[in-house]
Amino acid sequence: MKIAVAGGTGVVGAVTVTRLKMAGHEPVVLSRGTGTDLVSGTGLAEKLDGVDAIIDVTSTATTSARAATDFFTTTTGNLLSAGAAAGVRHHLLLSIVGIDVTPFGYYIGKVAQEQLVSGSSVPWTIVRAPQFHEFAEQLVSRGSFAGMTVVPGMLSAPMSAREVAAVLVDLAEGPPQGYAAEIGGPQPEKMTSMVRRLLRHQGSRRLVLPLRVPGKAGAAMRGGALVPKDPGVVGFQTFDAWLEEKS
Ligand SMILES: NC(=O)c1ccc[n+]([C@@H]2O[C@H](COP(=O)([O-])OP(=O)(O)OC[C@H]3O[C@@H](n4cnc5c(N)ncnc54)[C@H](OP(=O)(O)O)[C@@H]3O)[C@@H](O)[C@H]2O)c1
Repeated sequence: MKIAVAGGTGVVGAVTVTRLKMAGHEPVVLSRGTGTDLVSGTGLAEKLDGVDAIIDVTSTATTSARAATDFFTTTTGNLLSAGAAAGVRHHLLLSIVGIDVTPFGYYIGKVAQEQLVSGSSVPWTIVRAPQFHEFAEQLVSRGSFAGMTVVPGMLSAPMSAREVAAVLVDLAEGPPQGYAAEIGGPQPEKMTSMVRRLLRHQGSRRLVLPLRVPGKAGAAMRGGALVPKDPGVVGFQTFDAWLEEKS
């Protein structure tokens, strides 16, 4: 199958592209770095020519609700309209467990993105995943200053991006199914502990500064709203095994 991966150079996008190739598919990578800006949508029609399915895994580093909503509705809106025009038969969106009960800026944008996809004329699947193991690295690279890394208090059931990619490829190969069962990692983890273990593993002396996110969003994040209740697929690799594999 010819399958476009929007965000195909990102953390989960890159491993999804690798897995698609291993399975004999023809991936089409859509990202600014490979010449396609999904905010403007320029050149998208040509890229989607002959594409059977789109895997939508773009992202932005913002935590602002307005910026996240603008980004996700614009990029996914452009993908859906160009996909409809090109006869794409399946739009597969990767979303996040618990976003509908956790009114945090980025998650508010993801809810708007889900609404756009689920109201689209292009047949769709939405699968909600937990934080990746790699999310700990993303926090360190995006949230560090003056020898410290700011880490929100949150309970997760993290899963490696590689295992999430395997689920995405399986879903893209199958028919659109609306909301697929949520997926989750093998065990719950506190994000502060994950980041501390990552830093220790890297030999870093950086300090972890726990951030108590205020309000309903913070309570949900700390209280387990981001942990799937009844996951359809449970990842095999623990965070510690993933760390071990990195050395
Ligand atoms: N990270 C997690 O723990 C996690 C957990 C669950 C679900 N998710 C979801 O998984 C998806 C991917 O997350 P990720 O962490 O793998 O993302 P990421 O590593 O930040 O990668 C983002 C991707 O989006 C592309 N991109 C950004 N702006 C773009 C634009 N204007 N036009 C075209 N492409 C653009 C980037 O490429 P360029 O910079 O070259 O454009 C890159 O390929 C997101 O929808 C996220 O909500 C993430």
